[in-house]
Amino acid sequence: MRTFLGIGLPCGVQEGIASAIAQVRGLHAPVAWTRPENLHITLHFLGEIPTERVPLVERSMRAVASGIDPFSLTAEGGGAFPGTRNPRILWVGFLEPLELVKQLQQNMENALSGEGFLREDRPFHPHITVGRARGSLPPAWGERFVQALSGKRFGLVPVSSFTLYESRPGPGGAVYTPLCDFRLEGSGKRETREEREP
Ligand code: 2AM
Repeated sequence: MRTFLGIGLPCGVQEGIASAIAQVRGLHAPVAWTRPENLHITLHFLGEIPTERVPLVERSMRAVASGIDPFSLTAEGGGAFPGTRNPRILWVGFLEPLELVKQLQQNMENALSGEGFLREDRPFHPHITVGRARGSLPPAWGERFVQALSGKRFGLVPVSSFTLYESRPGPGGAVYTPLCDFRLEGSGKRETREEREP
């Protein structure tokens, strides 16, 4: 099964992004836009894994989640990979600080590589993919996209858990099904509970 680990978004953030990109969507460039309900932050793309390995991933991710406290991210503005002059992936980004989400992703990489999974071969840049170019885009189109989103704040993403998703192809694009949620319950919280015990 094709799987990935990621962070789901509140509906308000998904809707805010969808309405902000409606204007650039209207320009009818060859872009496959992500459906609002599919908008998410990818932490690690596992790709095709045998179903028998899912419990191993779950066990390993429960351990990762138990070491990280809940945090939140603020979605704002947009950009393009590999760059605005040659956009292939169009994204919405997050305001600094990003240390906590980077720590979560790093711990995840370490745990998965310890279980024999490949590490991500691209540096982690937390983002929400909103569209993928399906052909060559008109000159300056990337700049226009970034300008349309510049300074737009899409709201707070409270990260109290992350999710293992299955991705299946569907007639209208990929369908992401949550398989398991991993609640963040970092050591800070546990220490507080222990301190309170008589
Ligand atoms: P992205 O949005 O950060 O590009 C689910 O398919 C998610 O997994 C996508 O949103 C994408 O993350 C990531 N993904 C899909 N195919 C991938 C691949 N071949 N390599 C790395 N990540 C991939």
